[in-house]
This record gives sequence, C-alpha cells and structure tokens, in this order.
Amino acid sequence: MNTTGFIFDLDGVIVDTAKYHYLAWKKLADELGIEFTKEDNEQFKGVSRKRCLEILLEMGGRSVSQEQFDAWMVEKNEDYLAHIEKMDASEILPDVAKVLEHLKSNKTPIALGSASKNARPILEKVKLLSYFDTIVDGNSVSKAKPDPEVFLIAAQQLNVAPDRCVVFEDAVAGIAAANAAEMVSIGIGESDVLHEADHNFTDFTEIDLTFLDALANK
Ligand code: BG6
Ligand code: MG
Repeated sequence: MNTTGFIFDLDGVIVDTAKYHYLAWKKLADELGIEFTKEDNEQFKGVSRKRCLEILLEMGGRSVSQEQFDAWMVEKNEDYLAHIEKMDASEILPDVAKVLEHLKSNKTPIALGSASKNARPILEKVKLLSYFDTIVDGNSVSKAKPDPEVFLIAAQQLNVAPDRCVVFEDAVAGIAAANAAEMVSIGIGESDVLHEADHNFTDFTEIDLTFLDALANK
C-alpha cells in the first residue's frame, strides 16, 4: 500500500469558523456574567464543545448541575448554527479549494478529521462535501484531540497506512494528535504556536502544489 492520504481539519483550516464559535461563546458568557475575550477563545480551538463549556465555567468559577450544563451546550450550539446558516463558498479560506481540486484531480484519498459535530452541514454550506472520501467528526470519535483517534479512524477509512497520511491542522492539540498518530503534520497558522508540526505555513497560499506532490510521492 503506497498511497498517501490527506486529512484536513475543518475549523481554522478550511473555513474561519472560530469567529462564529467566539460570538456564540461570548453571548453565553455575557449571559452568565463571565468575562470572555478573543484571547480566551484561542484555548477553545480544536477543543470539543463539552470541554469548551467546562473551561468557560472554570473561568467563571461556576459549578452547575448536569441539566443546566446540557441546556447551555444546546443554547451555544443553536446560536452557532444561526451563524453557520448564513455561510457560503465565499468563506472558504484562500487556496483551500485549489489544493482540494489538485488532490482530487490526482485521485488522492481525502478525509476530514474534525472535532466538530457540525462538520457535514458546514461542508455542505460551502459546497466542499463532495471532495471528501470520508468524514470523521465529533460524532464519530470517543477521544478528543490530542488523542490520535480521529486521524487513525480517518486513515483506516481511507485504507491508507497512518505513516502515509498528511494532516493539515491549525490547533496545537491537532498537531499533537497527528504526531501521536505518526502522520506528517502540517501546521496552518503561526509557526511559533504550532512549532511541533513537521512543516509550517501561514495559510494555503504559501503551499506550493509541487510540495504536496513530493509528499504524496515520497
Ligand atoms: C473544533 C473547533 O473544530 O470543533 C472548536 O476548533 C470547537 O473550537 C469544536 O469547539 C467542536 O465544535 P462543534 O461544532 O461540535 O461545537
Ligand atoms: Mg481547527
């Protein structure tokens, strides 16, 4: 088996949904009287919805009943979905579609590996769903990044050996997960934050297609 598989994180790699997550968490935080800034939102990247709410409540020094916790999870998600509803292809991050098109035209196996439970509707909204041979998201995993589970399932579903997979990630936890899966990790974002990655790029406009071909053929 000599094929290379490419696995994409969603939020912060394909689309900039962090701003919508921020608006929804900020609304809830304001309601609860907890201070929540854009800087605080950084620690929510790549982290499951449940863990985000736990962190928010820890920040506010609050402990709540399971029932209340679940109700706030629903409230945050409904608010987030209202933002997602308005998304279209114009929100795909620069050159992501070009890279997907290139990989697809070479018949390269492509997977999504995301912590989000809203991955499918988002890919549908931005019209990229058809590029993916498999979607592994927050509904399919039991262990969150930095655990490698999400990427290992993606490799299995693509029928590609883990050490033949390349992962695009914008979160520290995601890079750690890719490294733990012994995959090639590519950090998308600030290299000083994502310094554990095998390769770093600010965004996809910096990635040369010949670099991807070299990874695919190594
Ligand atoms: C990750 C985001 O991709 O998905 C996190 O980086 C988010 O910020 C997580 O909390 C879960 O997303 P969702 O859509 O299931 O609430
Ligand atoms: Mg991400």
